[in-house]
Amino acid sequence: MKKLLFIFLVLLIIQPVFSQENKGLALTPPMGWNSWNKFGCDVNEEMIMEMADAMVESGMRDAGYEYIVIDDCWQIGRDSLGNIIPDPERFPSGMKALGDYIHSLGLKFGVYSCAGSKTCQGRPGSRGYQFQDARTYAEWGVDYLKYDWCYNEGQNAEAAYQTMSDALKATGRPIVFSICEWGDNEPWKWGEGIGHLWRTTADIRDCFECEFDWGGLGVLDIIDEQAELYPYAGPGHWNDPDMLEVGNGGMTNTEYKSHFSMWAMLAAPLMAGNDLRDMKEKTVDILTNEDVIAVNQDKLGKQARRFMDMGDYEIWAKPLSNGEVAVCFLNRSHHTWQLDYDWQQYTMYFVRDVNVHKNTYEIWDCWEHENIGNTDEQLSVEIPSHGVLMVTLKKQENEE
Ligand code: GLA
Repeated sequence: MKKLLFIFLVLLIIQPVFSQENKGLALTPPMGWNSWNKFGCDVNEEMIMEMADAMVESGMRDAGYEYIVIDDCWQIGRDSLGNIIPDPERFPSGMKALGDYIHSLGLKFGVYSCAGSKTCQGRPGSRGYQFQDARTYAEWGVDYLKYDWCYNEGQNAEAAYQTMSDALKATGRPIVFSICEWGDNEPWKWGEGIGHLWRTTADIRDCFECEFDWGGLGVLDIIDEQAELYPYAGPGHWNDPDMLEVGNGGMTNTEYKSHFSMWAMLAAPLMAGNDLRDMKEKTVDILTNEDVIAVNQDKLGKQARRFMDMGDYEIWAKPLSNGEVAVCFLNRSHHTWQLDYDWQQYTMYFVRDVNVHKNTYEIWDCWEHENIGNTDEQLSVEIPSHGVLMVTLKKQENEE
């Protein structure tokens, strides 16, 4: 009995120490690259190193991208002691060496596992090995874990993610924890404090407007599923509408710009999912657009709200930390939107919904990188089919 009491007291004392770990991470939405969207199971150390090099050479690192994450299929089994074994043919130098290389470029290292007995591709999952795997990741220098939900065998999602969260915290290494249970158990309601981001939907597909019977979603469907989740996003805890498809070839550049703009507005993690070694100039321009990234990385950490829904046409607004606001006009239709927008008429909505003051704002176009007027004037712009106009309303120099 005394022994039990002693253990209880020790746990009580160390518990706050554990739960303090991993706070202060992902204070803005994580940015990086993940292998899955482009490469699926075809991962190996050479390719991952090249991707890290390309992140630096393309200017993406300087634009804020940080994590290089190997998704499914790096693992092939467990040894007799239960330690996870990376595929020795594909990762001959070992994960520690790969992590060291990534770190040497000023980047951070991420891996993938699963709360179930197997990963979605049938590789060994972490169920029953959570603390052991977390220790292994920490030894390798892992900074980010994406944790999936296949073969979960009826576990309680919150408890399963809490266990791995505790295991990561117990290592003492700061590791961003990415919950990937596709929104099935409403992780936005319990994920804060357990993980730093949580997937909200089924997997993204490289298309703007499309439907798949088996659950893959295009950009517009994913956007719709985020709309009401804005109360749950904030520094250290983000809704994750899945990784980017920018540059993978299934959409037009107009659509990729809209995809990237809306992910920025939604305060979504910006995890590129294309081949960084082989990018068209347009793709680099999209992924490194500093005005759009600044909106995403704004430290207030608010997710945009759909401020007006006119069917084919939508207006989204995201309050920013300096009392300014980002606004994105999204044309979902198959024709051009002739936008004639009277800011004065709608200012009251902005005041109420996004808490801006009734000032005159300069309108900064985040794609053209130029001033296109101010909010005392009507804004007249043509927005192409599936395109956006994304602007930041900036205070005039002489205004507070
Ligand atoms: C699930 C996830 C994807 C990816 C694959 C890997 O489908 O949602 O993002 O990680 O598993 O198998």
